Amino acid sequence: MHIHKVIFDTDPGVDDAIALYFALAHPQIDLVGITTTFGNVTVDQAAINAQYLTALAARHIPVTKGIGKPLVNPGVAPPDFIHGADGLGNLPSRALTKGAMDPRSSAQFIVDMACAHPGEITLVAVGPVGNLAMALALEPALPTLVREVILMGGTIVEPGNVSPVAEANIWSDPHAADRVFQAGWRLTMVGLDVTHRVVTALSLFEKIALHHRHPATDTLHHAVKFYTTFYSGLHKHLDATPGCYAHDLLAFLYLVAPDLFRTETGCVRVATEGLAQGQTILDRRPFIDYPQSGWSLNQPQTQVCMDVNAPACLQLFEETLLTAWLGR
Ligand code: BDR
Ligand code: CA
Repeated sequence: MHIHKVIFDTDPGVDDAIALYFALAHPQIDLVGITTTFGNVTVDQAAINAQYLTALAARHIPVTKGIGKPLVNPGVAPPDFIHGADGLGNLPSRALTKGAMDPRSSAQFIVDMACAHPGEITLVAVGPVGNLAMALALEPALPTLVREVILMGGTIVEPGNVSPVAEANIWSDPHAADRVFQAGWRLTMVGLDVTHRVVTALSLFEKIALHHRHPATDTLHHAVKFYTTFYSGLHKHLDATPGCYAHDLLAFLYLVAPDLFRTETGCVRVATEGLAQGQTILDRRPFIDYPQSGWSLNQPQTQVCMDVNAPACLQLFEETLLTAWLGR
C-alpha cells in the first residue's frame, strides 16, 4: 500500500476543512505539513483555522503562513457569505487549543520539504496558488523534486463560479496559476468539471457527527450547515435536498482513487486579465502546432479531470470519515 506524503496548501474554508478531515482519516495519506494562503479568508485566519482544525482532531502537523495577496492583481475581500467571516461558518465559540506556527513562509516550507524528501512529496493545492509560484521562484528545480501536484481549481467545459468562465482559486491569482501550469511538473487539475458532479448532502455530515460525537466533527457539521445555506440559495437541486459541492475534497479523492476520474491531457494556460480573467484554457488539439506564442507543441502538459464516478466518490468519503480516525 503506497502512503502519500502530502503538503496541503489551503485557505480553510469549509470545503478545505472537509478535505482536511478526509486526509487525516485516510490511511494512505501522511499529511506532513499544511501551508496556508489567502482566499476564502485572510491568510492569518487560514493559518488559525488550519491549526484549530488539526488541534481539534488531536493531530500535530506543522502549519505555515503563506502569501497574503495575489502576485500582481489587487486583492479582494474574502467571500464571508460563502464560508462565514471566520471561514468555518461563524463558529459561536472555539475550544482552547495549543500549537505554535512553524516560522517559515509557506513557500520556504515547501522547498525545504521537497529537498529533504526528493521525489516523495505530493502537493495538494486547493486555494489560490501563490505559495507554489513563490516556491518555484525560490527553487527552480522544484518540479524535479516533488512527486506530483494535484490542484483544485479551474474549469474547462463547466461554467465558472466567479464569472462565466473562471473558477475562484484561479481567478484569485491568475498570474500565479499560469506559472504553476507552465512549471513542467506532473500536474493534475481537479476543477469544476468534476467538483460540480459530486454533491455532499448535509445529512451525511450530521451522520458523521452523530457517529463520532467529537468536537472536530461537530465543528465540521456546523461549518457545512452554513456553507449549504449559500448553495441552496444558488441551485434549485441543493435547495430541495440541502447539500454542497465539497470542491477541495475531490483533490484528495483523486490522489487515493484516480481510477474514479476520467482525464484528458494537454497544455493549460490561464487568461490573466480582462473579461476572461482566470479562465483555464485546455489545448484539446495537441496535433495542431498553433502559430500563436504560448501554445507550441512542447508546452508543459496538465492532466485535467473531465468526469468522475460520483457515487463511488461519496461512498469512499463516507466510509473513510466513519472509521476510527479521531484522537481525543
Ligand atoms: C474553490 O474556491 C474556494 O471557495 C473553495 O475552497 C475551493 O477551493 C472552489 O471554486
Ligand atoms: Ca479552498
